[in-house]
Amino acid sequence: MAARVVSWQAAWDAALYADDGFFRTVRPADHFRTSAHVGTFARAVAELARRTGAATVVDLGAGGGELLTALHALLPDVELVGVEVAARPGALPDEVAWTPALPDRIDGLLIANEWLDNVPCPVVERDDDGVDRVVLVDPATGDETLGDVHDSPWMRRWWPLAAPGERAEDGTPRDAAWADAVARVDGVAVAIDYGHVLADRPPFGTLRSYADGREVDVRLDGSRDVTADVAVDAVAAAVDGRLVRQRDALAELGVDGRRPPLDLASTDPAGYVRALSAAGEAAELTSRGGLGDFWWIVTDRRDAA
Ligand SMILES: C[S@@+](CC[C@H](N)C(=O)[O-])C[C@H]1O[C@@H](n2cnc3c(N)ncnc32)[C@H](O)[C@@H]1O
Repeated sequence: MAARVVSWQAAWDAALYADDGFFRTVRPADHFRTSAHVGTFARAVAELARRTGAATVVDLGAGGGELLTALHALLPDVELVGVEVAARPGALPDEVAWTPALPDRIDGLLIANEWLDNVPCPVVERDDDGVDRVVLVDPATGDETLGDVHDSPWMRRWWPLAAPGERAEDGTPRDAAWADAVARVDGVAVAIDYGHVLADRPPFGTLRSYADGREVDVRLDGSRDVTADVAVDAVAAAVDGRLVRQRDALAELGVDGRRPPLDLASTDPAGYVRALSAAGEAAELTSRGGLGDFWWIVTDRRDAA
């Protein structure tokens, strides 16, 4: 059978979002753990919603609805909306809305946790003559070839390649997708993800796959997540956003990873156990080399016209 060679971006999109694509057929939490699965994260998001007076919280790329389910108990008077291409989770509280498309207007807080890294983008490689070209792939085999010349203002500004063989993910579609979402917000928008900035771009790109709780070989057959780190400084520039590491953002919101005092164990044993568990969650969310290194891209549009 002849190989069916397409752009990496098209193959990536199909692997995740075609009818039989990964995110149409699985629950992300069955394959990897994110901040949204940690209760203390929802408490911090609830605190941000309260501080910014949000009437609505919209979770873009809501996955299995874990964050919204936790927020439902914490923010009884706030409208909660999940935007997700996957079907509504059966256990989601009835009061939480679930829709495949972003609302036109968002009056409050927009959160997108680990959404941007799953927005497919062109994969680009510098050829032996020093010309940047899109990478093509046969999704069935993973065999790659170089295609057309890729002349991109984004690459020149945000991820210039220096030598033959170097690769990048062109973030143009990600900047545009998040800018489109943020433009709908009368309130605060936060995208949270793993990523890099201009000074530390990886020379060979960051395409990876995850399944069953671990990193696996990249495949484009819908059996696994396909992700690439986000050029967070480019996204921030596109939305007039502030870049903060997750550990600092959570500290600003009162998340504290210190263990409770030991004497609490005798005066209030149940309270001690609760505080110990919260401290463990905080430590996970703020860890170096882990979730604490994630970037928050925060855009405050409360004063926008
Ligand atoms: C890595 S998962 C993150 C899920 C959840 N936010 C979490 O942190 O656990 C990314 C999610 O974004 C969803 N998604 C991607 N593009 C989307 C789009 N354009 N509209 C709605 N959902 C989308 C995927 O279906 C997937 O559930």
